[in-house]
Amino acid sequence: MCGIVGYTGPKEARAILIDGLKKLEYRGYDSAGVALQHDGLLEIHKAAGSVADLEKTLVDNSNAVNVGIGHTRWATHGRPTDENAHPHCSCCKEIALVHNGIIENHQTLRKWLAEEADHKFSSETDTEVLVHLIEEYYEGDLLESVRKAVARIEGSFALVVVSSREPGRLVCARQDSPLIIGLGDGENLVASDIPALLAHTRKTKVLEDGDFASITSEGVEISDAEGKLLDKEIFEITWDIEAAEKGGYDHFMLKEIMEQPAAVKETLRQRIDTASGKVNLSELNFTTEELTSLEKIHIVACGTAYHAGILGKAVIEKIAKVSVEVDVASEFRYREPLLTENQLLIVISQSGETADTLAALRLARQKGLKVLAITNVVGSSVSREADEVFYTWAGPEIAVASTKAYLTQLIALYLFALYLAETRGRIDSAVYDELVSGLKALPGHIKTVLSEENLAKLHTYCDHLSRWDSAFFVGRNLDYPVAMEGALKLKEISYIHAEAYAAGELKHGPLALIVEGIPVIALITQKAVSDKTLSNIQEVNARGGAVFAITREGFDEIASQVESVFYLPPANDILAPVLSVVPTQLIAYYAALARGSSVDKPRNLAKSVTVE
Ligand code: G6P
Repeated sequence: MCGIVGYTGPKEARAILIDGLKKLEYRGYDSAGVALQHDGLLEIHKAAGSVADLEKTLVDNSNAVNVGIGHTRWATHGRPTDENAHPHCSCCKEIALVHNGIIENHQTLRKWLAEEADHKFSSETDTEVLVHLIEEYYEGDLLESVRKAVARIEGSFALVVVSSREPGRLVCARQDSPLIIGLGDGENLVASDIPALLAHTRKTKVLEDGDFASITSEGVEISDAEGKLLDKEIFEITWDIEAAEKGGYDHFMLKEIMEQPAAVKETLRQRIDTASGKVNLSELNFTTEELTSLEKIHIVACGTAYHAGILGKAVIEKIAKVSVEVDVASEFRYREPLLTENQLLIVISQSGETADTLAALRLARQKGLKVLAITNVVGSSVSREADEVFYTWAGPEIAVASTKAYLTQLIALYLFALYLAETRGRIDSAVYDELVSGLKALPGHIKTVLSEENLAKLHTYCDHLSRWDSAFFVGRNLDYPVAMEGALKLKEISYIHAEAYAAGELKHGPLALIVEGIPVIALITQKAVSDKTLSNIQEVNARGGAVFAITREGFDEIASQVESVFYLPPANDILAPVLSVVPTQLIAYYAALARGSSVDKPRNLAKSVTVE
């Protein structure tokens, strides 16, 4: 995730670029930059921090600037620094480029460019190889050189390039990352998303994978890799500006829920070797000796990340047969955990800035433990202080209630468990292969869970739920952490008091609270314990509770025993929680909507908690 904007026309480009970047800041906000074309040269401004920090560097307006490109970054390769911010420049400083995506073969290309063609690099980014490649192929036509460079690239990209040798022209290309052209009157724009265009035009042309474009103030030419001109339909935007920032959704939370198939796919990308079908975590520098001699793992996190940790414990113990303890970070230090050097600490933190999680990390390092961080933010405190980092590529999460970050944390834990199990020789190859193919199928299955028919069903259910001030979530085994996460989500955004119980524990207290009609959401995806959960459901039914079961295809006996049932696509027992949590997120969302509470910014809560 990153935001791109480009402008060519008669107006002052600085303000247009900055305004466009501010509209795209939800796509990334760790650093920003612009390349301004004027008087036969390129003027570059870059700054770590927000677009507002970049804006402060643009005080000199003495040159008229009518053409430029801008970028707001969500770091992938390389920390969020001034040097790593986009635009990146060629050695001769005549070509500048902004990029959203990942260049997978950047290391090979970098080596070739540096050793064979004497290019000098000034950043740690994967992107920089692209601008040097374009420079290498440049023979007077920027579009041609971009075509040649793109032909050598593996990965995903939306890119916009300018050259001081070609005044007034922007050149673009797209593969797997969005890019939209805005058609103005005597001016044209390009951006990653509609919000950056709306103040200028509602007429757009959407680039598709494999498309190239040459844009001047007079016109736009879209072509394919061979240079054949393509005739694209004009798409008229009907959204208002506020809706556009949320991609047409009413709330960031819903947008982020709907982004989950892509977020999971991105987190899996490059971590499963296509040829061998093996998990490849070469980004982690554990030695085989370190992993085989591990005596225990501690997982520490807060909130939703803590729930990912509880599930992670079950998965690691089942698959890799290593004992795992899980703590909420605010308790970890004070219980004086027994920490020794043959243990590993895994901290999970979306933001990478949660104060209690950071304190746990520091304590473990003091005691000589190696620390693995699972985080979504490159350059965050947790990522800097941990020994090893596993990034969840969920993209920026804006809504306070975490959804897509949670799902990608689960994926990180599954991948790590498989990698650990294989290194320790503790997993049967058939089980391993089944889990790997199950992981690869998840993005498609999540999409199915998010079908319109399913959304409508959950919306209708919430009409009942939202009338209650209290609800229960129950489940056994791997369904129990999902119940905990479902209850947390419901209370944090709808303010309905929700309790999660291991289904077998109901009879030890909560059953006293079951009254006629009270909503009980039962998670039933684990074959080995489904009959037992069903018996607990009978106990609820007998006291008038209204059970909404979330189960998976094949568990046909459940429908007749509950008030309503929601079916998930087929999934392996161990992977089912990735699917079953999705309807609980939507239940919280629709209940909050029905009760008129503030979905994205619930009262009294914050996204990143940097106090203890
Ligand atoms: C806050 C947020 C939660 C998040 C928790 C941990 O409570 O509202 O959504 O799960 O902090 O945050 P972290 O960034 O460490 O994952």
